[in-house]
Amino acid sequence: MKQYIENIPKAELHIHIEGTFEPELLFKIAKRNNISIPFKSVDELRKAYEFDCLQDFLDIYYQGAKVLQTEEDFYDLTYTYFEKCAVQNVKHTEIMFDPQTHTERGVAFDTVINGISKACEAAQNNFGISSFLIMSYLRHMTEEEAFETLKQSLPYKDKIKAIGLDSSEKGNPPSKFQKVFEASIKEGYIPLAHAGEEGDADYIWEALDLLKIARIDHGNNALQDPELIQEIINRDIALTVCPLSNKALQVVPDLKNHPLKKMMDLGLKVTINSDDPAYFGGQVNQNYIEIQEALDLTKREIYQLAANSFQYSLLDEKDKVKNLQILTGYFQTH
Ligand code: HPA
Ligand code: ZN
Repeated sequence: MKQYIENIPKAELHIHIEGTFEPELLFKIAKRNNISIPFKSVDELRKAYEFDCLQDFLDIYYQGAKVLQTEEDFYDLTYTYFEKCAVQNVKHTEIMFDPQTHTERGVAFDTVINGISKACEAAQNNFGISSFLIMSYLRHMTEEEAFETLKQSLPYKDKIKAIGLDSSEKGNPPSKFQKVFEASIKEGYIPLAHAGEEGDADYIWEALDLLKIARIDHGNNALQDPELIQEIINRDIALTVCPLSNKALQVVPDLKNHPLKKMMDLGLKVTINSDDPAYFGGQVNQNYIEIQEALDLTKREIYQLAANSFQYSLLDEKDKVKNLQILTGYFQTH
């Protein structure tokens, strides 16, 4: 089964590029930029990755991101992630980045986007991996600040497919960003948002009805509300579920209690993703492997999850069909 998972073609739809920052690369870039970090070694830094909740994680995640300063840093970070995609049979990825984490510290928007998008082009050429970028607004900041980020992004519109909403969920409901989402949609960006990770089902309703999102990041708390579950199914919207993230941030007590299979059995369209793999103990394949073991998922269910990852990606129909045909060929012969 492990080998089956490793070899099956898949897409990753919920990944924060700043969350792929492994301690080894973090130390290397810190040294290159002459920045001192409050940890003596890679091991000591890794030991700090024990979280009680989302905020606990975010505090250390934003700390780590401060090391990133130059276009080369963003390129190296992103290219390193693609190298991991290549060995995991990830054929397509939709990468979130948080411009405000960087512009707030004086790093220019174009430094961030140029570094990341050059790595995306190199990955297409070197590995044949396709990708889209999702520019995420930080929900702990104001809507006005999100508007400023939207404005900064406009010269790079052709490099950005969608917008997202991440960071501290509780106390920062989707309604806070209704206007900036409306404006972003007018610019041609596809709206996505984290909802129902720590926030309740009403935050998911808001994200659907006010932000008009095309996909829900996490969405675990949809299970609180049968009417909401039906609405998500009716709208044919997928959830990007992140099992190891849910465990690390105590959204679920352990993987055996993870609602993924229940979601599938209810008819929800679910995908498997790593969220912030450097911090949560595993890349996307490790997420598949551990959740398969915990919930005793069948090969058909693994195939269904991989199929959802292409079907509910932002790829156009032609590319979806192409990827799904290869995937189905794999399923039929393994
Ligand atoms: N939730 C909210 N914001 C985030 C996350 C997450 O899991 N990862 C990075 N930013
Ligand atoms: Zn996330």
